[in-house]
Amino acid sequence: MKARILVVDDEKNVRFALGKVLEDQGYEVATEESAEEAFRRISGDAFDLALVDIRLGALSGLRLMEKCKEESKSIGFLVMSGNGSLQEAAESIRKGAAEFLQKPISPEALTLAVEKALRLRNLEKEVVSLRQNQSSEILVGKSAPMNRLRDLVQRLAGTKAKILITGESGTGKELVATALHRWSPISSKPFLKVNCAAIPSELVESELFGHERGAFTQAHQMRKGLFELAHEGTLFLDEIGELPLAAQAKLLRVLQSQEFSRVGGSQVIKTEVRVIAATNVNLERAVKEGSFREDLLFRLNVVPIEVPPLRERAEDVPLLADLFLRAAVKENQLNQKSFEPRALGALQDFHWPGNVRELKNVVERLAILSESIIEEGDVRAQLRTPKEAGPLSFPLPQGEELTLEEYRKRAERFYLISVLKKEKGNISASAKILGVERTYLHRKLQDLGVNKRDYF
Ligand SMILES: Nc1ncnc2c1ncn2[C@@H]1O[C@H](COP(=O)(O)OP(=O)(O)OP(=O)(O)O)[C@@H](O)[C@H]1O
Ligand SMILES: [Mg+2]
Repeated sequence: MKARILVVDDEKNVRFALGKVLEDQGYEVATEESAEEAFRRISGDAFDLALVDIRLGALSGLRLMEKCKEESKSIGFLVMSGNGSLQEAAESIRKGAAEFLQKPISPEALTLAVEKALRLRNLEKEVVSLRQNQSSEILVGKSAPMNRLRDLVQRLAGTKAKILITGESGTGKELVATALHRWSPISSKPFLKVNCAAIPSELVESELFGHERGAFTQAHQMRKGLFELAHEGTLFLDEIGELPLAAQAKLLRVLQSQEFSRVGGSQVIKTEVRVIAATNVNLERAVKEGSFREDLLFRLNVVPIEVPPLRERAEDVPLLADLFLRAAVKENQLNQKSFEPRALGALQDFHWPGNVRELKNVVERLAILSESIIEEGDVRAQLRTPKEAGPLSFPLPQGEELTLEEYRKRAERFYLISVLKKEKGNISASAKILGVERTYLHRKLQDLGVNKRDYF
């Protein structure tokens, strides 16, 4: 369908000239000479875009735009002026214009600005319409990769197949596991999660399978493990690549025989648990390096699900940003906030090394730091990642006085990152070099705000 554009200018030749350019481009064009008339026209008719002059007599072009926004009219705006100041340009953008054009306007500049404004307006419209029916969704997104992922998850949720979820950090692996359980026939049964990187190696088996009283020094009483507690439900083994080899052997046996005994016990316990595993390390490589059992990988990976990185589904960014913004506003009891279209564009252009989690963090910061309309500049200021700003060498502090503690933290962060980089993000291997427990390293990274995924 042809886009409909309303040109509002008090000068007849301007209306005529601009209208002609737009008609030649295939748009449907109407013209008005005053803001009052234009407002009436917009109220009674559906336009996609208005191209308005700032100075229009009694009611200015900016006021016209504000009035339309106040009444939530669904129309985009381009503002133009003959001798506009920088201030006017900034004000137009702040109030929601897609662009500010300085007259005289060349046909090329006009065409480009109109195309861009129409694109931005479509984005806004989509956000509004999707907002209405996505609130109950778990996996938000409407890009082709996301639709495929959702379809696959829906289909697999009804089966008992073992699933291995892979994908970069922050892409939504845990969310996929949650959806697999929630959409399954066993959704009323338990859904338990465990992060294999976060349990000390000597406790992994007891955590998964439980222990009998006296099985080891701290085992003062019998404790059921996750396999027992998740009976008939789903057990999500997150960061499965970090599971110690001994526990891998036991897990393999349990998956094969569907029975196990608690640590230190002999009673055989039957288990009916759906196992879903996730990892952001390359398990095939881990198998080659000898840190992951091939037979276990084979068992776990009956059906692989790969969660695509956010940069491959940039289309989803506005929708997710809007979702996170509303959640942050609600959680922090802030006034209503919204993104200026260009701000959404800037978010969409970013490459998101930390994926959806990073987007969520950025939006949460923006919600707290920005005024009611979040502008492009606000977004850009937040998009400097620690990776890009990260240290490549470790200098003495320049012109600042650090306490020993502060300096120690920086040095620690720097060294951890360099080891992680060398080990391609593998926690176990890095922990070995550093001479610490991998659970300690895991916690330390969290404390220092280091995302291991950034250093692959
Ligand atoms: N499609 C989505 N819709 C809504 N929220 C999402 C989506 N994908 C991810 N998120 C949110 O992003 C954050 C990160 O997701 P999640 O924890 O599932 O990622 P992950 O892949 O498990 O990350 P990691 O590898 O770091 O463990 C969560 O807050 C999650 O709710
Ligand atoms: Mg996770």
